[in-house]
Amino acid sequence: MSRVLVPNEALANALGANELARELQARGHEVIRTGGFGLAWLEPMLVIDGEAYGPVRDLDALDAVALGPLAELPELARQRRIVFDRCGHVDPMEYDASWLLEQLEREPREIIGEIKASGLRGRGGAGFPAHIKWQTVFDTPAPQKYIVVNADEGDSGTFADRLIMEGDPFRLIEGMMISGHATGADKGIVYLRSEYPLAAEIFANAMDKARALGLLERFDIELFIGAGAYICGEETSLLESLEGKRGEVRFKPPVPAVAGLFGQPTLVHNVITLCSVPGILDLGGKAYAEIGTGASTGTSTFQLAGNIKRGGLYELPFGISLRELVEDWGGGTRTGRPFGAAQVGGPLGAYLLERHLDTPLGYEDMAALGAGIGHGGLVVFDDTVDLVRQAHYAFEFCAHESCGKCTPCRIGSVRGKEAVAALASGGYTEDRLEVIDELCDLMEQASLCQMGGMTPIPVRSALGGVLSRGSRNEKFHGGIVRKNRESERG
Ligand SMILES: Cc1cc2nc3c(=O)[nH]c(=O)nc-3n(C[C@H](O)[C@H](O)[C@H](O)COP(=O)(O)O)c2cc1C
Repeated sequence: MSRVLVPNEALANALGANELARELQARGHEVIRTGGFGLAWLEPMLVIDGEAYGPVRDLDALDAVALGPLAELPELARQRRIVFDRCGHVDPMEYDASWLLEQLEREPREIIGEIKASGLRGRGGAGFPAHIKWQTVFDTPAPQKYIVVNADEGDSGTFADRLIMEGDPFRLIEGMMISGHATGADKGIVYLRSEYPLAAEIFANAMDKARALGLLERFDIELFIGAGAYICGEETSLLESLEGKRGEVRFKPPVPAVAGLFGQPTLVHNVITLCSVPGILDLGGKAYAEIGTGASTGTSTFQLAGNIKRGGLYELPFGISLRELVEDWGGGTRTGRPFGAAQVGGPLGAYLLERHLDTPLGYEDMAALGAGIGHGGLVVFDDTVDLVRQAHYAFEFCAHESCGKCTPCRIGSVRGKEAVAALASGGYTEDRLEVIDELCDLMEQASLCQMGGMTPIPVRSALGGVLSRGSRNEKFHGGIVRKNRESERG
């Protein structure tokens, strides 16, 4: 009889992990359902008495897919797993609370000090320094404070929140309880997208287990399932939605840390931000800050998707180049054709081109290109990518997902769609490009939130990519907007 780890993770299950688990049990083996390791192209991946196999289609043909000892698997061993260190190795329901209880004895100020020293920035998209929000919630007197977890994970090509909630839900519970203790919040709510039923089930089971362990007597947790709007990932729309209202952006200020859910101080964080907290307290903030590059400290959970050979999640220090990620980790395009573009940071992210491949993936280096890292997702395209179509898609997405509250986003996105369609059918004339450029300026400057405010990024970077292949147009030729050209000129 062998001891077999079988992932209970949405992708692995779609590829047959449940059936493999049943068959292994019927053959008398001890089966432990764990989370996934994030190596999507190896799923379903089994670990039998410490030896890894994948992708497993047939239990009687394991030799053909033998990967060697799990501990030596380079795709895992070469990562710097801080958030995902337990994921895949453990039964998500086996939990010893002693480490967490020790942390909850620490002084709130001391914990906030560690977060400050770590340089942790939000992993949801904006990259805002976490300690400033923690300190604000701590300093704002109120009868009730909240921790709200943003698990809406709407960005294309992203799945880090899902993987950790399926594979190590207690990591999130630890992050929530520690941040609650540090800021004075005794209620936490997880806003989870409805498309993640397995994550919902596993997280709900973990909540039951936490309740049985007595943990929820000091910090209450609620799981809220969203209804499926991209805009509800934007923190103020998310709060509206949690209050039972239509998901519409709020004016800021006040920021949620001062007046958030039901007007009370609220710490809104992405799943991965909160899941980074236990590792920071373990390592110490200063040691964590030494990982990464410049003010992009620690690790990012990069997620590779689209036209890529070895898609999956790779937790690596910030600063790795786009080339290393796409070529070394991802193995290049799945079609085998040359790299064409990668959209980094979700549907509002920039299209980076071949000439950007050596860009280090850190907040500052990306900002210098007028781009961002977002939630760490990359969607890769080969050289057949139609970048004009992608520019059209950016406006189309915005028109579909806009909450409609502000005019630049609601109307601008529709006019933008028309303008790119005219460009595609009528050719690249100076006046057509001028219209798009002005519209982009307007959306950037006058939209109420980054939905309309960032849509120009994919538009400009995609059109810049097309123009740099042929024409000499100054407006878009920078590839990533004029900002890029200005920074190149110094
Ligand atoms: C249109 C839009 C969609 C967003 N979607 C998400 C999302 O799905 N998940 C997320 O964590 N942050 C999302 N954000 C960012 C949040 O507004 C917010 O910055 C984040 O939850 C703060 O958490 P952090 O400090 O941990 O990054 C979105 C922002 C915008 C403008």
